[in-house]
Amino acid sequence: MVGARMYERLYMLVFMLILLAPVGLGVDVTCFKTVNLTYVPGAVKNGAVCLDGSPPAYHIDRGVGDGARHWLVFLEGGGWCDTTEDCLNRTKYLSGLGSSKYMKAQNFTGVVADHPELNPYFYNWNRVFVKYCDGASFTGNSIDPVNKLHYKGEKIFSAIVKDLLGKGMSNATKALISGCSAGGLSAILNCDKFRSLLPAHTTVKCASDAGYFLHVRDVFGEYNFAKFYDRVVKLHGSIKNLPKACTSKMKPESLCFYPQYVVPHVKTPLFVISSAYDSYQIQYILAPSINNLSQSWERCKNDTTTGLQDQIKFLEGFRSEFLGSLPYIGNGSFGGMFINSWVTHCQSQLQLSWNWDPVFRLKDKTMAEALGSWTNSRSSLQIIDDNDLPRNMPKNSIMNNQEI
Ligand SMILES: *[C@@H]1O[C@H](CO)[C@@H](O)[C@H](O)[C@H]1NC(C)=O
Ligand SMILES: *[C@@H]1O[C@H](CO)[C@@H](O)[C@H](O)[C@H]1NC(C)=O
Ligand SMILES: *[C@@H]1O[C@H](CO)[C@@H](O)[C@H](O)[C@H]1NC(C)=O
Ligand SMILES: *[C@@H]1O[C@H](CO)[C@@H](O)[C@H](O)[C@H]1NC(C)=O
Ligand SMILES: *[C@@H]1O[C@H](CO)[C@@H](O)[C@H](O)[C@H]1NC(C)=O
Ligand SMILES: *[C@@H]1O[C@H](CO)[C@@H](O)[C@H](O)[C@H]1NC(C)=O
Ligand SMILES: *[C@@H]1O[C@H](CO)[C@@H](O)[C@H](O)[C@H]1NC(C)=O
Repeated sequence: MVGARMYERLYMLVFMLILLAPVGLGVDVTCFKTVNLTYVPGAVKNGAVCLDGSPPAYHIDRGVGDGARHWLVFLEGGGWCDTTEDCLNRTKYLSGLGSSKYMKAQNFTGVVADHPELNPYFYNWNRVFVKYCDGASFTGNSIDPVNKLHYKGEKIFSAIVKDLLGKGMSNATKALISGCSAGGLSAILNCDKFRSLLPAHTTVKCASDAGYFLHVRDVFGEYNFAKFYDRVVKLHGSIKNLPKACTSKMKPESLCFYPQYVVPHVKTPLFVISSAYDSYQIQYILAPSINNLSQSWERCKNDTTTGLQDQIKFLEGFRSEFLGSLPYIGNGSFGGMFINSWVTHCQSQLQLSWNWDPVFRLKDKTMAEALGSWTNSRSSLQIIDDNDLPRNMPKNSIMNNQEI
């Protein structure tokens, strides 16, 4: 196959150029493998459809060698829609967040990259990037015939996992489900369900990147984000699909959309990746009034007047609450976490923070090494940045993964 070989040589050439590029310059996105869409048309007859009724889809890059029987299922992020108008908008908007009609090929970077230098543990696994098109972290099961909106996230999740089982995942020796942001939340909410859909002989683990959204008072002293989540969950008919062990105890039940209330009941080993200063959480949950955190943080650091010092204390308070809400990892626990302080979101999809720039190492491990070694081991791993102040992202880093 001449075509394949030429592609490989071109790939290596581009890759060499990147290796030679000064560290911190960021990685040229053109070097990543671009993977086409796979639709799941069979899902439609079971009602597993995107908001507009189109078939769900994913991108798959097959595993090779000793990765051939290992599977990584990564769920895309993209926020949530809480009103009819908002969900309808998703079906028209070109991002594909509400319709597979608008989905495009995906560049496989970071956790789904196919080269050992970029992705040392998962590069040769079967890597699946699941498209997000339901608007409620793969939990909904409802329909709005008047507006022709399908809230079918839960059905999509099952349909895609079943499709993958038929494509070889039923022979998996290892499987890891992860995701970023709304996808990272989904990986937590659907963690035990994923375990139950896989054969008993498969070792199953879960991970969540920037999906550990905190139930916390905002700068107004209120829980405005919880009200938003409540609207999402009600609109999509999600309550019955949230973990029962949580919904049977929590009031209102929609609080079971928050990881901190669900994780104590999760039985499958879970690894949490996040910044304690996650930029989405600071801007949308904690301080909707701050519209440029990096900028205000730069100002705060240099200013010693009390008002700004108070802001710093407030941010540090958020970090403390965030750390306090994380699952306890002690002897006999199989959990893991990698918590840094970069003001950013979705670090496992960004090559720079996943496994590239040494400034992102914590306790001498890249995020990729931490998650990879934990996935392959039978023990717990806890890595937290001791630096209790926010770190601004390197100026010239590629910031093209602003998915939420
Ligand atoms: C993938 O990378 C190419 C550049 O190589 C870029 O033009 C394209 O927009 C990227 N696609 C996505 C979905 O990010
Ligand atoms: C991906 O899709 C494009 C456009 O349909 C096609 O030209 C290309 O051959 C496909 N690539 C692979 C690897 O199938
Ligand atoms: C529709 O979605 C786009 C993209 O998120 C956004 O810019 C726009 O404001 C939305 N429109 C409405 C009416 O919500
Ligand atoms: C699983 O492995 C068996 C034995 O190698 C093979 O016959 C079967 O087709 C595989 N299943 C899938 C879904 O690939
Ligand atoms: C926020 O501030 C930083 C630092 O001043 C600047 O580089 C960046 O472009 C700003 N972002 C926005 C969205 O204004
Ligand atoms: C903050 O102080 C540092 C060193 O004193 C200086 O280099 C930097 O420009 C200052 N930043 C702002 C936003 O004033
Ligand atoms: C775990 O066990 C070791 C050895 O028994 C002990 O030294 C350590 O304090 C324990 N750690 C925790 C978190 O309980």
